[in-house]
Amino acid sequence: MADHHAIELTVNGQAQQRHVQPRTHLVDFLRNDLGLKGSHLGCEHGVCGACTVEVDGRIVRGCLTLAVQAGGCKVRTIEGLSQDGDVKDLQEAFIRHNALQCGFCTPGMVMAAKELMEHKPDATRAEVREWISGNYCRCTGYHAIVDAICETLALRAGRAATGTKEAA
Ligand code: FES
Ligand code: FES
Repeated sequence: MADHHAIELTVNGQAQQRHVQPRTHLVDFLRNDLGLKGSHLGCEHGVCGACTVEVDGRIVRGCLTLAVQAGGCKVRTIEGLSQDGDVKDLQEAFIRHNALQCGFCTPGMVMAAKELMEHKPDATRAEVREWISGNYCRCTGYHAIVDAICETLALRAGRAATGTKEAA
């Protein structure tokens, strides 16, 4: 495999050692080499956000990031987030508000919303709309998605204010 590079990285808490071509994008590596199909490929040039994943705690476009660039990093995908329960409340809010139809945009949308909720727990509705403006949805018209995120922010703030433990 002369044209392949060895990379070591952590994906959803598991150490991985693989050989990849230098031109392989991170989202292709995750989907094809690791079978993590939750990150989607839409535009493949950085516009739609369907491929959003986390690298060392910050979201990136998986279609613009090379797999070799993630060498030595901690990568998380929607599968890892879901397994760890980090966004269980948000996922439940998406269902309550019918914030997905075909679901193609949903993993990227949830990854982006998670980062917003961590960095701006007091975000206004306008700030939520601005934050997810880099994630395209062809189905919902966005209102239900914004509703779900805003409700989750409010519920988390309420829990924080009352000291109530998040329901398991
Ligand atoms: S597939 Fe990466 S931004 Fe659209
Ligand atoms: S639910 Fe279909 S693209 Fe968003």
